[in-house]
Amino acid sequence: MSTSSRREFLQFLGRAAITTYGLSILPTDNLLAASLQSNALPFTPIEPSDADKLILAEGFQYHVVAKWGDKLNKTEKYGTHNDFVTFISSVKQAKNEGILWVNHEYTNPLFINGKPYTKGETRTKAEVLAEMESIGGSIVKIRKNPKDSQWKIVQGDPVNKRITALTDIPFAWHEPIAGSKTAIGTLANCAGGQTPWGSALSCEENYDTFWGELDLSKPDKPKIRMGDYGWDTVFHYTPEHYGWVVEINPLTGQAKKLVALGRFAHEAATVWQLPDKRCVVYTGDDKEDEHLYKFIASEPNSLEKGKLYVANTERGEWISLDIQDQPVLQQLFTSQTEVLIRCREAAKLVGATPLNRPEDIEIDPITKDIFVCLTNNARKGDVYGSIMRITEKDGKDGLRFESKIFMAGGPDTGFACPDNMVFDNKGNLWFTSDMYNMNKGDYIPFKNNGFFFVPMSGENAGKVYQVASAPMDAEFTGPCFSPDYETLFLCVQHPGENSKSLKELTSHFPDGGDSIPKSCLVAITGQALQEIVQ
Ligand code: FEO
Ligand code: CA
Ligand code: CA
Repeated sequence: MSTSSRREFLQFLGRAAITTYGLSILPTDNLLAASLQSNALPFTPIEPSDADKLILAEGFQYHVVAKWGDKLNKTEKYGTHNDFVTFISSVKQAKNEGILWVNHEYTNPLFINGKPYTKGETRTKAEVLAEMESIGGSIVKIRKNPKDSQWKIVQGDPVNKRITALTDIPFAWHEPIAGSKTAIGTLANCAGGQTPWGSALSCEENYDTFWGELDLSKPDKPKIRMGDYGWDTVFHYTPEHYGWVVEINPLTGQAKKLVALGRFAHEAATVWQLPDKRCVVYTGDDKEDEHLYKFIASEPNSLEKGKLYVANTERGEWISLDIQDQPVLQQLFTSQTEVLIRCREAAKLVGATPLNRPEDIEIDPITKDIFVCLTNNARKGDVYGSIMRITEKDGKDGLRFESKIFMAGGPDTGFACPDNMVFDNKGNLWFTSDMYNMNKGDYIPFKNNGFFFVPMSGENAGKVYQVASAPMDAEFTGPCFSPDYETLFLCVQHPGENSKSLKELTSHFPDGGDSIPKSCLVAITGQALQEIVQ
């Protein structure tokens, strides 16, 4: 396809998506659509940049709310590599106060312990413990100062708490997992979700990089493939204890691993509540040619019991992964617990469609369609990724759906490798990019990772506008609005990741000068944001 016809095709996709699924279903939808239609875009999009700065379009400002190492209280500190952020909306707070759950996905031995780790080296206990403490998640009370309108951590607030790779976390399941009712710690906490009862869901994604993975390629001689951090040169934890969705009560810090949602590289867990208060959770496995899943709870206000399904996007079907429903699963597995632990194998046996790395999942507040970022798939030559749109045919607890590519990455649309998304109160889509090889090869035109805005109605519907550019080597993660939509929280994750030593740092964000780069949470505000959300 030529460049111009490709552009027209992509714009058609945007328009078709709006008119096909769209904004004419309910009268209120039309009102929302009209409110944005009457406004021109309230900012000038930025050009891609490779500067070691957080650059925002004019009309937006940011300030740092929390960064790695900030004190939460006398003994606990905000972790590193912040990813998913959720503003706990069920807890009644004074205006301009809030409780956040923030994921701390992974770590960097160079910044934690002063030297990079090369695979094959032996670690010390102290090094591993320091790295284990730096990840997991944070419960953080924040408050906006009325004098300067800046959000800051409320240090010493009793709600502040860290959950780390050292915290004991029980399995919410009727059987032990690999011989134990409790796991030591949570890790690889990438994206997540929030339940209607106000708990946070934190997804253990690339868990195998820490404690490795069970290798069952020779079933008579199972072995453990080692992780990437050398932690397993010091301690030996059970790989089957990781790769779950973790539910955290943000008021008590109590956590549990939700076995019923299966075990794989969970990216996100996006919750939809049914009229009878049971919940549906959409969750994906962010690995090349892995799958998209949906869990339907069997009891109200709980995710401990229910049925897991996997998507066949060619047939538009959610396929049961319940061993009772599937004779093919009974041939390989002896119990549902085993199916859930070895979910990837089970999904393939029942006919799941291999996808191009499902990342974040969000539900359009207006059309109620499900959007899934398919970030890329090197194996299949999908360099730029896309965003898929799913329309359930029989409601969220039904088993038939339609899927289409809503938007494709590439030089014409100006983004590559979409990752985390959020919808605003008007139904506009905001998303981040995560190019794993930025400023190289096919990704050179896009420069550093970015943050993008897509109006979903009006004359600019379906077009992509760059709002922000990330510092060197970083990606933006965890976009999340405050309940009044006046603040957009966004994380800067892994600035300076390609630094070879403390003397050769590729980034000094956010403190500047000669400082070590730090992952941090920023608050974006400004007139342009106000005009979009009001
Ligand atoms: Fe942690 Fe799939 O991004
Ligand atoms: Ca992600
Ligand atoms: Ca990512």
